[in-house]
Amino acid sequence: MTDFANRLISWQKIHGRHDLPWQNTTDPYAIWVSEIMLQQTQVSAVIGYYAKFMARFPTIADLANATQDEVLQHWSGLGYYSRARNLHHAAQTMMDEHAGQFPQDFNTIQTLSGIGRSTAAAIASFAFNQVQTILDGNVKRVLARHFAISGWTSAPKTEKTLWQLAESLLPQSDMVAYTQGLMDLGATICTRSKPKCTACPLVSTCMAYQQQLTTVLPTPKPKKSIPEKSTTMLILRQGNEVMLVKRPATGIWGGLWSFPEIDDHEQQDYVALALSQFGINTTVDAPLATISHVFTHFKLHIKPQLLTVNKHALQAREANAVWLDIEDALGAAIPTPVRNILLQLKHGA
Ligand code: ADE
Ligand code: SF4
Repeated sequence: MTDFANRLISWQKIHGRHDLPWQNTTDPYAIWVSEIMLQQTQVSAVIGYYAKFMARFPTIADLANATQDEVLQHWSGLGYYSRARNLHHAAQTMMDEHAGQFPQDFNTIQTLSGIGRSTAAAIASFAFNQVQTILDGNVKRVLARHFAISGWTSAPKTEKTLWQLAESLLPQSDMVAYTQGLMDLGATICTRSKPKCTACPLVSTCMAYQQQLTTVLPTPKPKKSIPEKSTTMLILRQGNEVMLVKRPATGIWGGLWSFPEIDDHEQQDYVALALSQFGINTTVDAPLATISHVFTHFKLHIKPQLLTVNKHALQAREANAVWLDIEDALGAAIPTPVRNILLQLKHGA
């Protein structure tokens, strides 16, 4: 056993986290769902979603047999919705190709939708006690500091070095405590800002600590300005109901319910547009405040335009449109900005 692993495992057993809802189980399904939710999302934000998701989809079969709409509904608000679509797809693959079981072979695990090398390793070590190395953002930060590795940690060359280091440190047993220890250390001690080095089990060998580099490592990602886009959402409202349309399966918010959007390059005659596009007679209300939403690759400015539908409006001609009570719409598979708009309407906008 490497000294690094020894100290981390001993530390985890005393100071690590032991009571998270996905710990103290070896069910690969329960562990898999947690690892996917925890990608890009904090533990505190995940806990409530996790409980509801597992209550509704307790097994691989339950998830595989659900509709995509219902899976997305349980993900609504968590963001990065391809995670939910991949989870659903992978569950169906397990039913079709793996006899409804979560596969144990490390390479096979990585063939499933949405499971990369690090996530596969987390599942394999937690569920099957396999000796596999994880390398998520937290672990990259710990290793870049401990071994004073400079360069953005997701640059291919730096990442390769980190994978090799991570593999060289693995213990031959106690993989659950070791893997959890890496995660716990990154989340609670070796934090992005102000790491608590004096409480760290690795301080005696940490090169960043010795060389006073903890504030400059890991090297930040090179800054690139992200493009900005804008869109107008048409909020067709009749009484307490609004019209939602289902977004195409791919692209941002794929498969989620949202307001119809129009290009906002030119001045629009919203009334004429609603009539020609949806066959609905409306009058224009004041626009709501613009909402900005940041995605991985761009920033979107959303202008919500309220239109009041006149009495006895025709049903929407759009094939994918539904009319929902605001309260029901809030319970549907909707992205966060749509939720914010609906909440404004609910509270009297
Ligand atoms: N982040 C990713 N996986 C985790 C886990 N198993 N426990 C806590 N945080 C995590
Ligand atoms: Fe991170 Fe400080 Fe521990 Fe080094 S000593 S691994 S910088 S917490």
